[in-house]
Amino acid sequence: MIGDIQALGGTEGSRAWYERAQASLAGGISSSARLTSTGPHPYPLYMAGGRGARIRDVDGNEYIDYLAAYGSAVLGHAPSVLTDALEPVLHGGTMFGTCNTAEVELAELIQEMVPCADLVRFANSGSEAVQGAVRAARGHTGRTKILKFEGHYHGWTDVLAVSNRPGADEAGPYDHPHPVPHSPGIPAGVVDDVVVCPWNDPDALRAVLDAHRGELAAVICEPIVANNACTMPAPGFLELLREECTRRGIVLIFDEICTGFRTAPGGAQTLFGVVPDLATYSKALGGGLPIAAFAGRRELMEPLATGRLKHGGTYNSSPLCATAGLATLRELNRPEVVEHIDATGRHIMETIRRAAHDRRVPCAVQGVGALFQVVFTPGGTPTTQYRDLFDADTARYAAFRHELLKHGVHTNAYGLACWFVSAAVTADDLAATCKAIERSFDALSAK
Ligand SMILES: Cc1ncc(COP(=O)(O)O)c(C=O)c1O
Repeated sequence: MIGDIQALGGTEGSRAWYERAQASLAGGISSSARLTSTGPHPYPLYMAGGRGARIRDVDGNEYIDYLAAYGSAVLGHAPSVLTDALEPVLHGGTMFGTCNTAEVELAELIQEMVPCADLVRFANSGSEAVQGAVRAARGHTGRTKILKFEGHYHGWTDVLAVSNRPGADEAGPYDHPHPVPHSPGIPAGVVDDVVVCPWNDPDALRAVLDAHRGELAAVICEPIVANNACTMPAPGFLELLREECTRRGIVLIFDEICTGFRTAPGGAQTLFGVVPDLATYSKALGGGLPIAAFAGRRELMEPLATGRLKHGGTYNSSPLCATAGLATLRELNRPEVVEHIDATGRHIMETIRRAAHDRRVPCAVQGVGALFQVVFTPGGTPTTQYRDLFDADTARYAAFRHELLKHGVHTNAYGLACWFVSAAVTADDLAATCKAIERSFDALSAK
C-alpha cells in the first residue's frame, strides 16, 4: 500500500475520528504537539498499528515512520526484544509502587553507558526529568536562576517553558533576548528566573554570564538542538560551556532527551566528548514506554540519596517501564545497533542533499544520522541559532513533508522538529524512502 495515499483523500477515517474526538478531548487531542506534528492539516492521522519501521493508519495506509513516536520507538514498533521482555511482566504484575530489581539493573546499565552518570533517578516523562535536574541544581547551589538558550525545548512544564519558539516581534534584542513564556498560565515569577541567551555565540554567552554573576544555578542546553531543526553545536561551543560553568560554579545540564543513547551509546556527551554535571533522558530510554531519568555527578545527586532533596512519583520506574528500558538499552549498547541507525540516517540525509542539489532547490540538511532535519533557508545555509529560522521557507517544508506523506513516508510535520531514524529501518524501507524523497523533490521543483 506504500505510495498509494492520495493527498488528504485516503484518510477519511482519521477525519471522522478527529471530528468525533472534538466532543470528548479538549481540542480533539491529548498533546498540543499532536495537532501540528502528526498532520496533515486540518486533521491529524490516527494510527492503528505498527511493526518494525512501518505504521498503519485507520484507513489502512502504510507509512515508513520517521516520527518514530517522537524518537521513543528507537527500535521500531513492537520489536520482539521488547515484547518478549514485557510479556512476563504484563502477566506477573506491572506495578507495585515498591522498589524492583529491573530499576536497579537499568540504573547500573546507565552508569556503564553514560559518562556523567554517577547516580540515577527515574521519572516518567522528559519534562519531569528536567524538573528533577533543575531541582538538584538549585538545591546544590542555593541559587534560583537558570540559563537556557533561545529555541531549545525542555518540556511543557512551567520551569523552563520559556523562549521555546518566540516570534520575531516578541523575542527582544539578539544578544540578551527577552524571556518569553511559551503559554499563558506560566507565572511571571517563574519566567523571571529564566535567563535566555543565543546559541553558539561565545561573546553573547560570556556577556550574559557576567550580567548574572552569582545568580545562576544551572546552564541547560540541547547539545544537538532537535527542537530547532537539529542545529549543531559550533566547534568548541560545548567545550566553552563546560569551561565557563566549571569556572563560575554553575551546574551544566545536557538535555539528552532527544540525543540520549541513539547518537552514541553514551549520547551526545560521548559523541562530542564533553561531560556535563547532570543529564536528562526519556524517549529512546523506554523504547516506547513512558520512562525518563536524570543522572549526574555524585555530589549533585547525593542530597536525593540522603532524602534532603525531594523527588517523587507514583509511577517512577515501574517494573513494566524499567523492563522496557533495560531491553531497549541492552540493544542500544550493542555498537552495531547505533552504527546501523547512524548509517541509515546518513544515507537518507545524503539522498535529500543530492535530490535537492540536482533540482536546484536550496536547503540545509543538518544533524546526525539518528536525528536530522531539512530546512529551506536562503541559499541552503545551515542554521547556527534559533533566529536563523525566521528566514526559513516553512511553506516549502510543509509542501515537502506533504509530498513525502503521499509517497508513504511519515515525518514530523513541524518544520522546527526533526526526523528520528529507528534501528528497524531495513534495506527495503531505506530504498522506498529514498525513492519517495526523489519523487517529492520532483513535485517541489515542478511548483
Ligand atoms: C529536548 C527535550 N526536552 C524535554 C522534552 C520533554 O519531554 P516530554 O514530552 O516527555 O515531557 C522533550 C520532548 O520532546 C525534548 O525534546
